[in-house]
Amino acid sequence: MLYNSRVVDNLKNKGAKKMGKLNDKIAIITGGASGIGLAVGEQLAKRGATVILADINGAQAEAAALKINSAGGKSEAACVNVSDAVAVQQLVDGVAARYGRLDYMFNNAGISMTGEARDTNLADWDRIIKVNLNGVVNGIQAAYPLMIRQGHGHIINTGSIAGLVPFPLNMVYSATKHAVVALSASLRTEAAGLGVKVSVVCPGFIDTPLKDTLTYRNMDKEEAKKALPFKLHPVEGCATAIVNGVLRNKAFIVTPLHAKLLWWIYRSLPGFFLWANTIAAGKSRKLRKEDGKSQLLLPSGERYTFDAICAQNKGTLEQIFMRGTALDLRQTSGWQYKGSNVSFVSLILRIRKFIKVFRPETTAAPDVIDGYNFWARQNGRLDRPWEPSSPNRHGFYKVYRVQPNEQDNKFPHAMLINYGLGNNPWYNPSRFLRDYIVQVYPDNPCLLIGGAFFALGSMRIFGGYFVMERLRKADKDHEEEAHGKSCIQGNS
Ligand code: NAI
Repeated sequence: MLYNSRVVDNLKNKGAKKMGKLNDKIAIITGGASGIGLAVGEQLAKRGATVILADINGAQAEAAALKINSAGGKSEAACVNVSDAVAVQQLVDGVAARYGRLDYMFNNAGISMTGEARDTNLADWDRIIKVNLNGVVNGIQAAYPLMIRQGHGHIINTGSIAGLVPFPLNMVYSATKHAVVALSASLRTEAAGLGVKVSVVCPGFIDTPLKDTLTYRNMDKEEAKKALPFKLHPVEGCATAIVNGVLRNKAFIVTPLHAKLLWWIYRSLPGFFLWANTIAAGKSRKLRKEDGKSQLLLPSGERYTFDAICAQNKGTLEQIFMRGTALDLRQTSGWQYKGSNVSFVSLILRIRKFIKVFRPETTAAPDVIDGYNFWARQNGRLDRPWEPSSPNRHGFYKVYRVQPNEQDNKFPHAMLINYGLGNNPWYNPSRFLRDYIVQVYPDNPCLLIGGAFFALGSMRIFGGYFVMERLRKADKDHEEEAHGKSCIQGNS
């Protein structure tokens, strides 16, 4: 169902446009210990209202209330699970008994999940409905009769832009938020005649802890966060829009601009919006994991191969690199890898093809290996065999996992190829190189991708991506003689 805010806004209660001080006002905010709820609480308290931060996380609510009070506001905390109708009723009754009134009931507590519908189970439905929908219903059932008796009051339910427009990978969340929007709009129209105002808040993508706490079903959290379609909007700006919208008694408080735009597009061009969502769903599918293995696939549905990666643009190379997993050193050690620098410049400079040798480092711990390079300059074409163009070895390095506090810990998911620690002569420019390297697939140590950086003091300047594939066994002296079987592309 689509709503037109103008039509419903026309039903605004009269005289509700006054802004400013809220000195004698009492507000309950569920989910008030964090994110949007807390930011709204802080702003209401600054305007003089007494805010009750009700949250399932009692300790966090206590800390938040303390913060508001020490900044000169009036706040108290309550540990309440909004799914528990009795507890919510007790909360509302207790506040009404203590303060003699309840002016604002923000039914804001919410949880979320993202993931494909086929990865969703009944427990997900149950859990999310209980908080996002039942939590709002419980708040209304507790506060609405009181507000009718008072002859005034304002119920503000937190929906979402996902309650106004559909989103792929958000079926359960979107369903609960659509329900919240629908029940808020319905209640608003009948509550107006009883002196009670009702608004629904529909934020877009807001920067709150929710992005870390929501359930990422069968997806990598960090990857999914990176794939968000909009930059997260600061929570303070969202709270200001909410408070202003409430004081103006807006029916729909949609914020920020990207949310308004999405809503407008969906209302104006629903067919186009759904088509765009289908495209977005296809892209998001690439983030899906199955059986714990990365499902980074070509459009054909097959896994990437060495040649296929070499043909990708920088954006895709970055994606592949960022989704990789740390190299298995035991599987890498003792092998030669063929390598290709993936950039036009490397082709011109005739440094496209190379061979890297990894070998066990006898003196160090087993989680460190070392190695060196051969040029394979005799041809830049990838369809010609990889043979050293000179027996001279160069670019010596050590490979290991960087500790979190070390300067070169640029990509914690990768192994560092540190040329600064190799046995390079002082005049060898390789000493200034740092490569970060990962396996493209966690179960395949044969196919690797790396990013090359120049180390200038504390600066790391990006030089390009390179792809590597296991070529042949490195013999005792590690080089010229080619033995062993080569790795089957894309095997697992
Ligand atoms: P948040 O995770 O920072 O805050 C949610 C709060 O709700 C937490 O303090 C949590 O402890 C509390 N909570 C969770 N389950 C509860 C329960 N059963 N009973 C009582 N409290 C409970 O998240 P955020 O972003 O501030 O979310 C607030 C509301 O805004 C939610 O309803 C969410 O769906 C909605 N929203 C958030 C958006 C965003 O981008 N952050 C976008 C659109 C809507």
